[in-house]
Amino acid sequence: MPSADQVIHNIHIASFDPSRPSSYGAITDAVLAVANGKILWLGAADDAPEFEGASQFDGKGQWMTPGLIDCHSHVVYGGNRAREFEARLKGESYESISRKGGGIASTVKATRLSSEADLLQSALRRVDALLAEGVTTLEVKSGYGLDLENEMKMLRVADQLSKVRQLSVRKTFLGAHALPEEFKLNADGFIDLLVDSVMPALVKENLIDAVDVFCEGIGFSPEQCRRVFEKARSFKLPVKGHVEQLSDLKGARLVAEFEGLSVDHIEYLAEDDIPHLLAASVVAVLLPGAFYSLNETRKPPVDALRSAGVPMAVATDLNPGTSPIASLLLALNQSCVLFGLTPEEALTGATRHAASALDLADSKGQLKIGFDADLALWDISHPSELCYGVNMHKPSQVWHCGKPRDNNNV
Ligand code: NIG
Ligand code: FE
Repeated sequence: MPSADQVIHNIHIASFDPSRPSSYGAITDAVLAVANGKILWLGAADDAPEFEGASQFDGKGQWMTPGLIDCHSHVVYGGNRAREFEARLKGESYESISRKGGGIASTVKATRLSSEADLLQSALRRVDALLAEGVTTLEVKSGYGLDLENEMKMLRVADQLSKVRQLSVRKTFLGAHALPEEFKLNADGFIDLLVDSVMPALVKENLIDAVDVFCEGIGFSPEQCRRVFEKARSFKLPVKGHVEQLSDLKGARLVAEFEGLSVDHIEYLAEDDIPHLLAASVVAVLLPGAFYSLNETRKPPVDALRSAGVPMAVATDLNPGTSPIASLLLALNQSCVLFGLTPEEALTGATRHAASALDLADSKGQLKIGFDADLALWDISHPSELCYGVNMHKPSQVWHCGKPRDNNNV
């Protein structure tokens, strides 16, 4: 008799395991057993063995999904940009505000002035909103510090989030996000600083899981991003990029050349660059919250990505400027309504493909034997309901690495 810590019975499972032929990888009338924080067994109740020593949990006929994964966020920051929102509503563009020293630069100012404790406290308000919707893994980017001291401060706060909450955190270094004041006319000098001193010091402190860039006219050129990626490669760190958000600088090809994890935004991605993504197994991360908040009209080439078979993830891009949205379920709804994803594609984008975008494809994002027992239980009659309604669903129970999480008191 196999021994388990907990057996969850009387559930339907949306496993997102592609080896199961049913849509959503569904198993109806199912049982799932957990041991040592991992999934020990799952399958039809009729086939379930007896488990020794296990506590029983009655799922009351609800649906279980993997814990959700938000694979792109800037959740740690100081201040907010509500005044900039007002300016944009009066007709000023995101690019024009940014060129005048507002935008990311104003968040850099506020973040530099904030203590680690303040940043943690303000991030937790937003993180708790994500947790309440079943998020069990969150990517957190730096990029509002732009010098060693402040990038380190942000990444330490990201680390803290996983200590004060039952949550897995991936820390992404986004030093090449914007040009700080002190390097105004010297972008190459700033890249020198990033690769010669900031990245090595952060790697030494174990504060980087992946390296990101903002490849854009108001960000950094492909050549400058290449230098950042080369340094990342020397540390064996995977790369990803904010690319083709406002224009097509061929950032996606650069990420593919470095066999990166993901290309994010990609509203301006050219269709003939898609084969490069496919060949390098790069995930396309769609960020409909930024598209919505900026009232953009140019959409990412979803049909072409789908027919090519490029995996698509969906994330919040939670940040104070372009996506002040602390709801992954809303992002899923937006990806369906605005970009035309099916609910199954959207949910796969916040589970299996989101895990790939974070280099976690072997342990998270699917309900599968041996994977982490990150689980969310929902009182719904079909998984599509999670994408269809807005602010209608919260999981009735969440487990992170096999441990129940009290979402009302996280
Ligand atoms: O993902 N594109 C650059 N970075 C963020 C925006 C950050 C900000 O405006 O503060 C994004 O949209
Ligand atoms: Fe972003």
